[in-house]
Amino acid sequence: MSLDRVLAHIDNECDSALERLFQIVRIPSISADPAYRDDCRRAAEWCSSNLNEAGFTAGVRPTIGHPMVVGNYDGAGANAPHVLFYGHYDVQPIDPLELWTRDPFDPAVVDVDGEKQITGRGVSDDKGQLLTFVEAARAWIAETGGLPINVTVFLEGEEESASPSMIPFLTENADELKADVALVCDTNMWDRATPAISTMLRGLVYEDVVVHAASHDLHSGYYGSAACNPIHVLAAILADLHDETGRITIPGFYDGVPEVSAEQKAQWAELGFDEKAFFGGIGLSEPAGEAGYSTLEQIWSRPTAEVNGIIGGYTGEGAKTVIPALASAKISFRLVGDQDPETIRENFRAFVTERLPADCRAEFRSHGGDRAVSQPVDNPWVQKTRAALSSEWGRDAALIGMGGSIPVVTQFKTLLGMDTVLVGFALEDDRIHSPNEKYNLASFQRGTRSWARILAALAA
Ligand code: BES
Ligand code: MN
Repeated sequence: MSLDRVLAHIDNECDSALERLFQIVRIPSISADPAYRDDCRRAAEWCSSNLNEAGFTAGVRPTIGHPMVVGNYDGAGANAPHVLFYGHYDVQPIDPLELWTRDPFDPAVVDVDGEKQITGRGVSDDKGQLLTFVEAARAWIAETGGLPINVTVFLEGEEESASPSMIPFLTENADELKADVALVCDTNMWDRATPAISTMLRGLVYEDVVVHAASHDLHSGYYGSAACNPIHVLAAILADLHDETGRITIPGFYDGVPEVSAEQKAQWAELGFDEKAFFGGIGLSEPAGEAGYSTLEQIWSRPTAEVNGIIGGYTGEGAKTVIPALASAKISFRLVGDQDPETIRENFRAFVTERLPADCRAEFRSHGGDRAVSQPVDNPWVQKTRAALSSEWGRDAALIGMGGSIPVVTQFKTLLGMDTVLVGFALEDDRIHSPNEKYNLASFQRGTRSWARILAALAA
């Protein structure tokens, strides 16, 4: 059977697949930092050549931001299904660099307690993950001369920086990109032995706020206690965002937040979540979120307001007595259900503005907003994918929520009318967005084998 040959091909070629992953990880495609603009372009070019070499017809598509890459294979004929595979070649910034034990852009395979782990920025999120699909396709073409279904591969270089070019690109290229279903490899397994399909992603609203007070920094003795301190003002407002039960206090914030159904709660309870291990793995011991909700509910089905950064006044060596003229913070909201990003943004801005004393003024800057998205599970795409995952891993794929955001999945639905099947092989301890990001060699190899099986299953 051709699938067996394809799987054997993947096993035999694992060293060359790993070398290709190393090549793309060596390109520091940090999308948020303009200093890496050329590297992002080089990464896009690498992806395009790699797709062409694998047997797709691919090209780099310029945008006003970082380029997109589109590769097409239509050799399965007009009656075969057509899927759109999405991944992102950009990565998060690497700071703080001093906490990395290896160069983030010089990948290696290291042995950690008997487990082989690939190290480097983006190995998990999302270069290793996207290559599991491309390597599976490469093996199919190499071994059988083609793919069992038609596939368009669509790779973005701005996912980690709010995808400013995505909506115009999807709108302009809708005909080319619309397929029967989208596949995305940018999420987690349930645990090391259990594959997963994610059924929901949270949305995201991101805001910068700057509170201005005096016209310049002041001597804190000369003016102290008489002059307004914007750090105090901002800190009090941020502290006000949650009440003592962890509930967010912005008016209207919970409009559109659905209660989790009893059925959903029961299904999640059956997953056997290990709370101790979850918190233990990050040096904590207990949930600190909204009262009355389990940890899984908190991360999968409840909205958040998190301060991601806060800056103000003197933060250098030693002491400096100063009342700063301004203080700023970066705040993000994860959305669920039907929460509307723009309403939340407006309500947040009003919440801050209302609390400002007479001499303060706030300045806001938006870094985008996208709604949450849920995926149906009662369709043949999900059923076939689940069956393929079960045959690779020897157990049923878990249906899970996912607290992170992948904005394009929302846009596939709203702009292209397309559902997405979210399958990923990352693990909770991959340290994505953190120093010492890793991807298990097993995730890479069995992830590739899984996609080879999924391609076969979707053809049937
Ligand atoms: N791969 C992540 C999303 C994710 C996070 C999936 C955790 C599974 C578990 C994705 O690349 C990401 O980090 N997205 C950003 C989106 C934002 C920058 C618009 C996020 O969730 O913060
Ligand atoms: Mn990602």
